[in-house]
Amino acid sequence: MRLVDARGLVRIHGRGTAAEHRALDCVDFSMEPGEWVAIVGPSGSGKSTLLHLVALTDRPDAGALTVAGQPTYGLSDAALTRLRRDRLGHLHQAFHLLPTLDVLGNVRLPLDLQGVPDREAERRARAMLEEVGLERETHRHPAALSGGQQQRVALARALVHAPALVVADEPTGNLDRETGRRVLTLIRRAIAFAGSGILMVTHDPEVAAAADRCLTLVDGRFET
Ligand SMILES: Nc1ncnc2c1ncn2[C@@H]1O[C@H](COP(=O)(O)OP(=O)(O)OP(=O)(O)O)[C@@H](O)[C@H]1O
Ligand SMILES: [Mg+2]
Repeated sequence: MRLVDARGLVRIHGRGTAAEHRALDCVDFSMEPGEWVAIVGPSGSGKSTLLHLVALTDRPDAGALTVAGQPTYGLSDAALTRLRRDRLGHLHQAFHLLPTLDVLGNVRLPLDLQGVPDREAERRARAMLEEVGLERETHRHPAALSGGQQQRVALARALVHAPALVVADEPTGNLDRETGRRVLTLIRRAIAFAGSGILMVTHDPEVAAAADRCLTLVDGRFET
């Protein structure tokens, strides 16, 4: 099984308007299970657009996309949502933690959404928090945490359900260099712990160099 297989992906933003833009122009790429792939490229080259397609939060205008072994063409919104919930983890530059939930509540959320029994969800969330070194912060709220701590909570949440694939858009982009390095080390450890692959957009050459493979997008195409 291929973790991701994309053939001839096209995404045109603002179709039929003056602002029409071909953000992805016939992109092919694939990932193997457990692989870490970095995507780099200039601002506006289509990196986030590609990530949204793979994250199943947007649909291509043309092309074929298989995610976690599941061909996505023709799937209903409900089926895409299930696939996203069960097989994917998400990591964002801006963390996107829920402010009303404490650390434990944020991390166990993907399990709660899947209907995992209460004690099992708590046990797995605590194990993941231990993996990112936050086992003592379980009852604090996101607003009371540093940026690096918030991203570690987000990382634990992205991996708690052992997703096949984590999609990450500049996960170290809001962190200072030293904190970014520490989070990167944790990402490496945590994806190995969960057995997940990761597709990561980054502007940081150090992050890109840590990946198994690095692809460069320019004007909606991969450079060869
Ligand atoms: N909703 C939209 N409507 C019109 N154009 C859009 C839309 N979203 C993105 N674009 C355009 O598509 C192109 C690719 O955008 P995208 O966000 O994928 O770039 P990016 O590589 O992630 O850039 P950055 O590094 O700045 O985050 C850009 O030219 C952008 O202006
Ligand atoms: Mg972007």
